[in-house]
Amino acid sequence: MVHAHALYDVIGFIDDSPALANQTIDGVRVLGSSEIITTYTEAQILVCAGRGAVRERIVTRFELLDVSPARFATAVHPSVEIPDGCHVGAGSIVLGGVVMTTAVTLGRHVVVMPNVTLTHDCRLQDYATVCAGVTLGGKVEIGHAAYVGMNASVREGVTVRSNATLGMGSVLLTDAGPHETWVGAPARPLPPKKTIEQ
Ligand SMILES: CC(C)(COP(=O)(O)OP(=O)(O)OC[C@H]1O[C@@H](n2cnc3c(N)ncnc32)[C@H](O)[C@@H]1OP(=O)(O)O)[C@@H](O)C(=O)NCCC(=O)NCCS
Repeated sequence: MVHAHALYDVIGFIDDSPALANQTIDGVRVLGSSEIITTYTEAQILVCAGRGAVRERIVTRFELLDVSPARFATAVHPSVEIPDGCHVGAGSIVLGGVVMTTAVTLGRHVVVMPNVTLTHDCRLQDYATVCAGVTLGGKVEIGHAAYVGMNASVREGVTVRSNATLGMGSVLLTDAGPHETWVGAPARPLPPKKTIEQ
């Protein structure tokens, strides 16, 4: 999107994988790992990882390298109309075909994938991720770093709390608690995954 619509002049990718250093992806060179940002003092940064919790860790890493919050770019597809009264926070990415009706608020480093419908008074907190084809009813809240899988629907007034996940194609009728994963239509919580310690 950034290339196709010349939203920014792209200098390169930053990736901490040593295997990717100096590779070229889509005609753009991988400059190196996070620390390389200290040599590009004027450049803006768009953090593109798919999971909000990962984007948050990357942003924290840049902040520890003295990158100011003002340097995070915001990318909105030209097809997307942002009506008066709607707000897209710094560092967020909004892909093609997204519709916002009224009083929609996106926090910082939110990602909204193609063809999502965000209806009146929806709030997407910082680092939220909403996948392709999702529909949110009015006054839905998507919590900090929560993840809504593709083609899911959320009933009006319902909240997906921080770091929760809603599975693809699910229909959420009641609030999903923090860190919970809900799936199905109507959506139900999955049992928490066992860890080695448990
Ligand atoms: C919800 C999700 C995160 C669960 O993943 P997971 O933790 O690996 O869970 P599993 O695949 O082990 O499935 C656990 C159970 O939930 C069920 N399940 C998983 N996803 C489901 C969904 N979306 N709807 C209904 N049931 C689902 C599985 O059938 C399984 O049921 P079972 O225990 O009766 O066999 C994942 O399935 C999902 O929907 N991810 C979003 C994908 C997406 O939108 N990607 C976009 C990328 S751009």
